[in-house]
Amino acid sequence: MSKERLQGKVAIVTGGATGIGEEAVRIFVENGASVVIADIKDELGHSLASSLGSEKVSYRHCDVRNENEVAETVAFTVEKYRSLDIMFNNVGIAGSYTTILDLDLTEYDNTMAVNIRGAVAFIKHAARVMVERKIRGSIICTVSIAGSNAGAAGHEYTVSKHGLLGLVRSACGELGAYGIRVNSISPYAIATPLTCDALEVGVAEVEAAAHGSANLEGITLKANHIAEAALFLASDESLYVSGHNLVVDGGFSVVNRWLPRIQK
Ligand SMILES: NC(=O)c1ccc[n+]([C@@H]2O[C@H](COP(=O)([O-])OP(=O)(O)OC[C@H]3O[C@@H](n4cnc5c(N)ncnc54)[C@H](O)[C@@H]3O)[C@@H](O)[C@H]2O)c1
Repeated sequence: MSKERLQGKVAIVTGGATGIGEEAVRIFVENGASVVIADIKDELGHSLASSLGSEKVSYRHCDVRNENEVAETVAFTVEKYRSLDIMFNNVGIAGSYTTILDLDLTEYDNTMAVNIRGAVAFIKHAARVMVERKIRGSIICTVSIAGSNAGAAGHEYTVSKHGLLGLVRSACGELGAYGIRVNSISPYAIATPLTCDALEVGVAEVEAAAHGSANLEGITLKANHIAEAALFLASDESLYVSGHNLVVDGGFSVVNRWLPRIQK
């Protein structure tokens, strides 16, 4: 397959300084896209942009909770690269892991502001550009298996990812009229800063725990596997795919192994 699957396209990747977003930035650039990294980790974002060493990658400080910064990031992208074809809403935070009895509603509001409201703001401003310029764009959101299943994360994360999936479907319904596709990716657990920091453990421990509950043997899910899924949804290979939730979980969420437990 050609290495230039995004040739001539322009993308914004939110949460692009680390983890899944960082891998997406690398793979989008390798495939010919111009990319704006939007994040709040300025040092990491700048160093990623300069390590890729090209005019085709820029870092922009953008807290997705702030609509002005979102609008400015979209305006910067269009001004610098003359288009916006791919909007990858990838930012997410883990939120707290408390019981619902102890839920701190200020923290809850913050998780919603990052995980849902940030994506709403970026879809609003990116879609305005796509509609106005008649760009048949691709909008992608990183959801999670916690967007369809309970028990895989804390309450506020689970609620936010269910909501994000609803946003993807709702936006897909409206923006299809303009030829704009809206899809999501739902990964299983990966050892990124998000999971390691939230659980206060290292990469090996997250991977061992994830492997213990996984369905698919012989492979450990990594951030680059999710970036490959994003590449497919961003590229013209998925031209008629919209409203789809691409679950990348090795079958985890459709398998329930109760039977072997009672079979002798
Ligand atoms: N790691 C997993 O197991 C896993 C599983 C399913 C879904 N996801 C989702 O994947 C996405 C990426 O997560 P990751 O695992 O790569 O985590 P990560 O922590 O490595 O990356 C998240 C990035 O988002 C940035 N960010 C956080 N708050 C921000 C804000 N307010 N404004 C702008 N940027 C902000 C962080 O600085 C960071 O660079 C998230 O939406 C997450 O919920 C992760």
